[in-house]
Amino acid sequence: MTSSEIRAKFLNFFKEKDHKIVPSAPMVIKDDPTLLFTNAGMNQFKAFFLGNSVAKAARVSDTQKCLRVSGKHNDLEEVGKDTYHHTMFEMLGNWSFGDYFKKEAIQWAWELLTEELKIDKESLYVSVFEGSNDADALDMDAEAFDLWKQIVPEDRIIMGNKKDNFWEMGDQGPCGPCSEIHVDIRSAAEKAKVSGASLVNQDHPLVVEIWNLVFMQYNRKANGQLEPLPAKHVDTGMGFERLCMVLQGVKSNYDTDIFTPLIREIEVISNAAYGKKEETDIAIRVIADHIRAVSFSIADGQLPSNTGAGYVIRRILRRAIRYGFTFLDTKKPFMFRLVKVLGDTMGDAFPELREQQQLIENVIKEEEHSFLNTLEQGLVLLDTIITANKGKEIDGRKAFELYDTYGFPIDLTALILEEKGFTLDEKGFQSALQEQKNRSRSASEVSKEDWVQLTDDAEQEFVGYDVLEANVKLVKYRKVVSKKEGEQFQLVFNLTPFYPEGGGQVGDKGYLEMSNGDVVYIVDTKRENDEIVHFAKRLPEHLEERFKVVVDGKQRQRTAANHTATHLLHQALREVLGTHVEQKGSAVHSKYLRFDFSHFSKLTAAELKAVENFVNARIEGQLPLEENRNVPKETAIKEGAMSLFGEKYGDSVRTVRFGQSIELCGGTHVQNTADVWHFKIRSEGAVAAGIRRIEAITSDAVKTFYAEANQALFEIKDLLNNPQDPLKAVTSLQDENARLKKELEALLKDKAKNLKGTLLDELEVVDGVRFLAKKVDLDAGGIKDLAFAMGQDQDNMFLLFGTEQGGKALLSCYISKQLVASKGLNAGTIVRELGKLIQGGGGGQPFFATAGGKDPGGIAAALERAKTYVQP
Ligand code: SER
Repeated sequence: MTSSEIRAKFLNFFKEKDHKIVPSAPMVIKDDPTLLFTNAGMNQFKAFFLGNSVAKAARVSDTQKCLRVSGKHNDLEEVGKDTYHHTMFEMLGNWSFGDYFKKEAIQWAWELLTEELKIDKESLYVSVFEGSNDADALDMDAEAFDLWKQIVPEDRIIMGNKKDNFWEMGDQGPCGPCSEIHVDIRSAAEKAKVSGASLVNQDHPLVVEIWNLVFMQYNRKANGQLEPLPAKHVDTGMGFERLCMVLQGVKSNYDTDIFTPLIREIEVISNAAYGKKEETDIAIRVIADHIRAVSFSIADGQLPSNTGAGYVIRRILRRAIRYGFTFLDTKKPFMFRLVKVLGDTMGDAFPELREQQQLIENVIKEEEHSFLNTLEQGLVLLDTIITANKGKEIDGRKAFELYDTYGFPIDLTALILEEKGFTLDEKGFQSALQEQKNRSRSASEVSKEDWVQLTDDAEQEFVGYDVLEANVKLVKYRKVVSKKEGEQFQLVFNLTPFYPEGGGQVGDKGYLEMSNGDVVYIVDTKRENDEIVHFAKRLPEHLEERFKVVVDGKQRQRTAANHTATHLLHQALREVLGTHVEQKGSAVHSKYLRFDFSHFSKLTAAELKAVENFVNARIEGQLPLEENRNVPKETAIKEGAMSLFGEKYGDSVRTVRFGQSIELCGGTHVQNTADVWHFKIRSEGAVAAGIRRIEAITSDAVKTFYAEANQALFEIKDLLNNPQDPLKAVTSLQDENARLKKELEALLKDKAKNLKGTLLDELEVVDGVRFLAKKVDLDAGGIKDLAFAMGQDQDNMFLLFGTEQGGKALLSCYISKQLVASKGLNAGTIVRELGKLIQGGGGGQPFFATAGGKDPGGIAAALERAKTYVQP
């Protein structure tokens, strides 16, 4: 069976058991502060488990693209070294939201594996939670045990501890006992020697877990306690790549048809052979794995960057480049060439890979280029460190600098040092790393108390499309403390007009008013687990009364204008540049908007003008907002709505239309494009390979922009004595300035010529060297010309010039080449030493070097000291 057939078989099995087949949610998570990447199939359903919202279908199944590289579930360091862990993998899953529970989940899993997929029953083991004696004091999962006993012999049921058989999504959130299914694919001879049961959960590459059936029944609270969930659910996850390994009769995930095309291509590119040497194999597996993680992320809209999710992606890509660089000798960008193969292999199930192939390739290639440069620079720096080092151990702090400032990987440093017969002071490196981690952790630390629940209103209503004020009830609140914001209170109301940050648009601000007139400011609004959370500096006094909440209308109006303009800009770009333009990111603030999109070259002035004109024409066209709040996503797409990444199953889809611009969007907009008033692009530039960014302003900001421009013009005119034609006045000033510059240059040249004559006369002979140290009134270029001109006339010369320019000091040292050789003098070393006297530093060539410094007062001392270099 091919991997595509296996995937289809799984989904079809559950479809026949009345499950709704839903698409994979994005792998990169945009709107959840607790998670950067989807790390399990259940992430997108978290709100259903917690009871915050109600699923449209009670039974669901899918294949979910997951990434386990950060937080609680992190497999990064295993990947490549073994044959069955991955960064990005597909998780096949079936879910019950308060519908069926353990009995069906267990029976169906067994039926699918043994009857449908015909895996030998004798090779399967199952595990059951044994209970715990810790603070949770959980009972053994007797129900699951009894159910399994009816299916498999008891000696195939393994009792598992909390680590393996109690699944938790993170430090908080839904959790419950689980039953895992393991498969033993060793040879009969090996099985006869050592029992499979003894190898379950022992990291054996051929006795591996393939499916985890989680019985969700608790919520882990911030204080560590478990509370029962309102209903019981099923969450199962099967490793697709491992299942393919079993069904395709191979011993490694990398030998399945999911990976072999990638591995063949890596072999072709690098000329290395897979399966011959362990370190080459590891490198090939790392690359074959990581290209998937990186490509899927970019397709989801997450580019490599220096922070957050982007940083994680950059690190994964760099890990692969480094393995190639070190073990496959790939010194040129090569990973980007795998994107097409990946699209050919997985593009049917994940069309985004094919649709965005060119962009993914460009981004990866650019990253490869810059990281390979870093590697080269790092190698040079490492050489310098080694040369300057005393002894055989290299200071860990130096290695940390290399790692931190230049992104030079520490294991590569260690490897190179080893090759050269040096060792690395690991402890020093680790402690520098730890110090840095502590610094950044304490800067971003947020502590959250548990929610205090006041009423049990489950579903919350957003009324902010229609009104900016409402009378609300507080449902729950909690205190959060962070370094950045200090102490804040998060409030959840039964309904709210406040727009939570999302889809690029900032969260609303405003206030809450109590019946006694007391006011509490709401400083931000965000969405968390499908709830709208309001951030306030303090708690209202009487928690149980109804409050009036009011959105800051002015900010909302400006933000709405920018959001509407963003849609028009998107439309304009596709119209002016072509339909390859896709939104890659957007930030809608009250003061400006920022829009990132795929396009391969800088926009010309004419294109920018055309884009501006297009948008302004639609603003002048007074197009009314037409919105539809509850359309099925498919219908909206059919009507031509542009869909962005970020929607997931169960989201109610809203379409926003202004004339021909139609988008899926949850944001807030003006009622008519006329309210945008005017659109002005402030800047256009590159963000990454193939991604451009436009920043623009609308409404009040444009008024301010023009008012300021007008004021500046007024002041300029005033400075120019109010000429009739200010443009002409500036041009003639510029002409005059150019003429004066020329004259000045000529004068300075003359002066240098005269000076040269005088200075040659002033040379004194010290120990056979023609020597002069003197303060002169020339700029750096003038001094250089002077020194070289003097050097042409005479040899055996040592010159040190000092000069003061704009409050700063400059020393220039010239030494005739013969002297450099015969006396071993070095201008670079000399200015470095003398530079200390002017509180600065510098360097250059052995025959000419300069040093700049803060203290002109030190020039005299430096000139004084110069002679010591030539004296015997
Ligand atoms: N959530 C469970 C896991 O990730 C089962 O889907 O293993």
